[in-house]
Amino acid sequence: MGTGSAPGKIILLGEHAVVFGETALAAALPFGVTVDAELRSSGGMRWSGDEVPRGDARVEASLALLARETGVAHAELKVSSALPVGGGLGSSAAFAVAVCRALRPDLVEAEVNRISLLSEQLFHGTPSGVDNAVCTSGGIIRFRRGEPAVVERVSSSRPLHIVIGLTGRSRQTSTNVLSLRQRVADEPSRWRPVVERLGALAEGGVDDLRRGALVSLGARMDEAHALLSSASLSSPELEQIVFAAKSAGALGAKLTGAGGGGAAIALSEEPEKVAHAISARGFDVRVVEL
Ligand code: PMV
Repeated sequence: MGTGSAPGKIILLGEHAVVFGETALAAALPFGVTVDAELRSSGGMRWSGDEVPRGDARVEASLALLARETGVAHAELKVSSALPVGGGLGSSAAFAVAVCRALRPDLVEAEVNRISLLSEQLFHGTPSGVDNAVCTSGGIIRFRRGEPAVVERVSSSRPLHIVIGLTGRSRQTSTNVLSLRQRVADEPSRWRPVVERLGALAEGGVDDLRRGALVSLGARMDEAHALLSSASLSSPELEQIVFAAKSAGALGAKLTGAGGGGAAIALSEEPEKVAHAISARGFDVRVVEL
């Protein structure tokens, strides 16, 4: 019997731009996915767990891939997850990392990261790799895609209090990524600078974290949200969460991940007040310290 776990994640800055080679700043959450695996001699890969959608062909395809890549063909998996599916908190990446670790506790981090990226490709088409990188490494990372990708640990000189507001609406990352790709292809002079600015905000955010400049980090989050909204990547629910958070004094608030649903995050020195304002509008919240 082996147990593997992996954290969920939020993207503080740089989502979408990271697909185009810009920097992203991502952080692991203090909760995620845990998998208990019992190795068997036959029967293939079987799994149980309420939080993973049954009948999702991508889950089955991912398990087949994970079996092939880990060299473990037969196992009984018990999956428990604190992450909403399609909720922008990295559930698919955390799932792959946790399964890898449960099946093969001996694998080094780079190998777990490589295999979980292959699984992410089944779920999301051509992902940047930021989700699997942060779910593998934990902590806060500065990420840039490439061969090899840049994954650099960032330590914040002050604790970050983040409030996560869940829209309860799941969405497909690949659809949103394609919609921005289309905009950039159709109108590069308008959208390229937006992508570059999102990347620059993430680079600046790395600096802010190191210096503990939370007001500046919050302002970058606000600007990133406005840019992502201008590319139609927000949603009415995300706007409500961001508005509630800002009205309650958050230093910054933005959608996190692919947008169009999923989750929004707010940076605050009074997280309980912000959480209350968001939940008063009927949304589920999580308060985390990073
Ligand atoms: O699937 P999500 O919501 O965690 O989004 C991932 C971040 C994107 O930049 C939108 C996509 C990617 O591949 O990096």
